[in-house]
Amino acid sequence: MIPKTIKKLVVANWKMHGNLKQNAALLNDFVATLANLKHTQVVVCAPYPYLAQLQSALQHSDIAWGAQNLAKNEIGPYTGEVSAGMLRDFGATYVIVGHSERATAYCESDENIAQKFMVAKKHGITPILCVGETLIEREAGVMEMVVSKQLDAIINAYGAAVFANTVISYEPIWAIGTGLAATPEQAKSMHRFIRNKIAALNSEAANQLKILYGGSVNPQNALQLCIVENIDGGLIGRCSLNAQDFESICYAAEKAAA
Ligand code: PGA
Repeated sequence: MIPKTIKKLVVANWKMHGNLKQNAALLNDFVATLANLKHTQVVVCAPYPYLAQLQSALQHSDIAWGAQNLAKNEIGPYTGEVSAGMLRDFGATYVIVGHSERATAYCESDENIAQKFMVAKKHGITPILCVGETLIEREAGVMEMVVSKQLDAIINAYGAAVFANTVISYEPIWAIGTGLAATPEQAKSMHRFIRNKIAALNSEAANQLKILYGGSVNPQNALQLCIVENIDGGLIGRCSLNAQDFESICYAAEKAAA
């Protein structure tokens, strides 16, 4: 059996929400309430214009922060893009790559996502790679094939060793923002599949990889999900916009890790 990583990770994905005032209120609350967590790393991922706000609000706390996307290129004439080096300049330590909302709306290919994953790593930013299937794919029973193909884009280009000290977030598309989370059994099975797939190629990388679950995590289901083997934490959308909800989820992760 593969040992799970010890510390949990809970990531707030604010998506395209927030403003200076609302963010300040949330961040102050997070800093005050989540300061004593010992077994859980908390991360906040906000839209680009608020990176400086995160940097300053979180600088004296253990809460890390990051972006929700980055450019696959390192520098050049790419209007509107933000590079890994720029994120690093502000002190970002995490970045979400391949979120299905982006992949669908902006036609991001698995190969582009793989490049983003690697450029983040190169600049010392931990990539949080999102993978997951649609409802049609789950109903057809091909969810493992779909996730496998998403992982293969990285494995085939760069090898499985690159997953060491990175994060994969299993996010079934049908569970995102729908209120219908995967059951602990469904998540358990996919998380085991992901860990085993990487372990078969590189067991050390598999041990150093965190696998999050994302998709309608809330204070009611967080503990049930976080205690599942191979679930190392969560990627939280809607509930990360409410201080109490997000903090309850972080405390559930803390309880599951203790
Ligand atoms: P949700 O979003 O928690 O609102 O379902 C999760 C995500 O998209 O990361």
